[in-house]
Amino acid sequence: MKNNLPDIRYLFEPKKLAVVGASSQVGKIGHSIVKNIVESGYQGKIYPINPKGGEMLGLSIHKSLSEINDCEIDLVTLVIPAKHIFQAVKECAKIKAKFLSIISSGFSEVGNTKEEMEIVNFAHDHGMRILGPNIFGIYSAKASMNATFGPSNISKGHVSIITQSGALGIAMIGKTQVEKIGLSSIISIGNKSDIDEADLIEYLVEDPQTKVIFMYMEGIKRGERLIEVLQKATSKKPIVVIKSGRSKRGAMAAASHTGSLAGADQVFSDIMEQCGVHRATTITEALDWCKFLSTNTRPKGENCVIITNGGGVGVLAADACEQYGIHLFDDLKTLECAFLEKVPSFGSVKNPIDITGGASMQDYKRSIETAFEHPDIHSIICLGCETAVLTGETFKNTILEFHKKYAHHKPAVFSFVGGENIEKGIAYLRSEGVPIFSDIYQSISCLGKAYSDFRNIQTHSDHHSKEDKIYHIKLDKISSIIKKAQTDGRNFLLAHEGKDVMEAAGISMPKSKITKGPAEAISTAEEIGYPVVMKIVSPDILHKSDAGGIALDLQNQKEVIDAYEAIIHGCKNYNPQAKITGIEVMEMVPPGTETIVGGRYDPSFGPVIMFGLGGIYVEVIKDVSFRSITTDRNQISGMLKKIRSYPLLLGVRGEDKKDINAIIDVIIKTGMILKHCPQITDIELNPLVAYDEGDGVKAVDVRIMIQ
Ligand code: ACO
Repeated sequence: MKNNLPDIRYLFEPKKLAVVGASSQVGKIGHSIVKNIVESGYQGKIYPINPKGGEMLGLSIHKSLSEINDCEIDLVTLVIPAKHIFQAVKECAKIKAKFLSIISSGFSEVGNTKEEMEIVNFAHDHGMRILGPNIFGIYSAKASMNATFGPSNISKGHVSIITQSGALGIAMIGKTQVEKIGLSSIISIGNKSDIDEADLIEYLVEDPQTKVIFMYMEGIKRGERLIEVLQKATSKKPIVVIKSGRSKRGAMAAASHTGSLAGADQVFSDIMEQCGVHRATTITEALDWCKFLSTNTRPKGENCVIITNGGGVGVLAADACEQYGIHLFDDLKTLECAFLEKVPSFGSVKNPIDITGGASMQDYKRSIETAFEHPDIHSIICLGCETAVLTGETFKNTILEFHKKYAHHKPAVFSFVGGENIEKGIAYLRSEGVPIFSDIYQSISCLGKAYSDFRNIQTHSDHHSKEDKIYHIKLDKISSIIKKAQTDGRNFLLAHEGKDVMEAAGISMPKSKITKGPAEAISTAEEIGYPVVMKIVSPDILHKSDAGGIALDLQNQKEVIDAYEAIIHGCKNYNPQAKITGIEVMEMVPPGTETIVGGRYDPSFGPVIMFGLGGIYVEVIKDVSFRSITTDRNQISGMLKKIRSYPLLLGVRGEDKKDINAIIDVIIKTGMILKHCPQITDIELNPLVAYDEGDGVKAVDVRIMIQ
């Protein structure tokens, strides 16, 4: 992108606006936009443009942009049919406009990609940037500017919404009104021909009015830049995302396990997690999180207590805490000291603190107050079941009082379960901004997100104080191996080439040699030492075990000869046309934990790496996680912890812990190979056998696909 383009600040804080296609006809989009701008209290200059001239809403209408002759217009909204847009953009260039918000539909969303690109290129050549096309506009609280054709009554607040869907974005304005969530901005990005999420986040993360950013996404265009921006942004502000279009495109026609396992949706989810972004599944969930994170402080430590008048809801909450990664404070001495006097003898001071069904509002008050005031308690979950003493009327005022006093000091969520009166109490408290829900999981998920942010920020600051390890990879050697395969017209590397790539990266593989007949196979086996493994080497056989191309644990000369014949026979049956280069005789590595490390070029995010439980069942078990390539050991460690089988790496039933550091080194090196060799489309080490801590790892098989 050219560097003579205007600062994104002018989009959010324009001093002068023009609306091309401003219409006096009530009900037309060109009328609604001007009306919204006027009614939102925008203080800058507004130029409505329409060839008919005249007046509207107390503003005089200019017949063309050239007529106004003002070269300081920061934002022009274009609301005329698509076929007139390019000409109007050219007029905008003449008056040196900075940002153009193109409302009109009729571009790439209907296949008119060429014209859309031409408009963007023209705009960039003339120092202008484009929002849209195919959008409803932009609202910015900072400029008191509602340049949209959505609802006019947007309340100012601290949540910014970036939306790819127009209709849903407009609906969300209404929904946020109902939920009493104030907005600092809402930006419709539509076809995102130029300005995308990353550009907007760069502004919003520095905007003091924005406390939480919420994105609704359908597709990703510049994924690698988005990752870079998100990683920086979430160390400052929470970001919530909803992404629709859970497509299976990424898994189609994949030649490797990594490819077939890389369902586009899992890659998206995992990368959002890597970036510290909260992915919500429903609009309700997303807005709950936005509201909580924009109005409550972050926890300052891990210790959470549950205060409840019912054992059952207490246990449910404890389950939810485990699901959302909330640590229940379990220092019994401190808990006894703090709560013993406030809890009846038949209650419990073990967390959950159960003040029992007989508890009065006074008992609640004393326990909650203790929790809020205690320096070792960092967050509170307050639960209630309707009883004769705890009614909708009695809890309302107490909870509101606590929320007002402490919400900016210590985070707390509330959940009350009961009949109509309780529901009325909840509705009242929600309208006052209290994070209270009848569903326990709903309230605890909000606190869980606050904890994810807390940890994300901590990891960020820890990381800055740590030096990254230096890796020496012979990239030139790898490039020349790839070049040779390309010259041969192959889209994959042969086994020995893959082995050479591993050697150049310092990734350990078993000793091996390709042999041309039983005699050579025997002498090689004796050189390596029994037991050995034998594998077919053929450019036409990718999945060797399916073809009967592998024999394991061969203990002597006879077994080597028998295996040689069986492999040749099996592979010829499997694919009579297959060209057989030889049979590889390989050291049989001792058993360990079989993992898989992979990497591939993702259509949305560029190079991504994968880790999971390996072996031949990898596609059935599908226990894998993805990350955008990174050298950050913390992020890779998070990737390892994400798989369900992670406890196997920690050692189960008396086994020793596996060499996790060595696995992380291999993942980083795989990412580096992928980053520096863009010709590689897929790389896969399966199995990568992990041994006990300190004993390293061994890549038993490697498969590399190239363009
Ligand atoms: N300069 C200035 N004014 C012009 C120009 C021009 N070059 N050309 C036309 N105009 C005037 C017209 O005379 C008209 O004025 P009038 O109302 O006084 O007669 C006005 O601009 C609008 O032009 P129309 O031809 O009447 O176009 P219309 O208003 O019917 O539609 C629109 C324009 C809304 C941009 C339409 O083409 C369109 O794209 N609609 C879809 C918009 C949309 O849905 N965007 C996505 C939003 S997100 C979501 O899904 C909710």
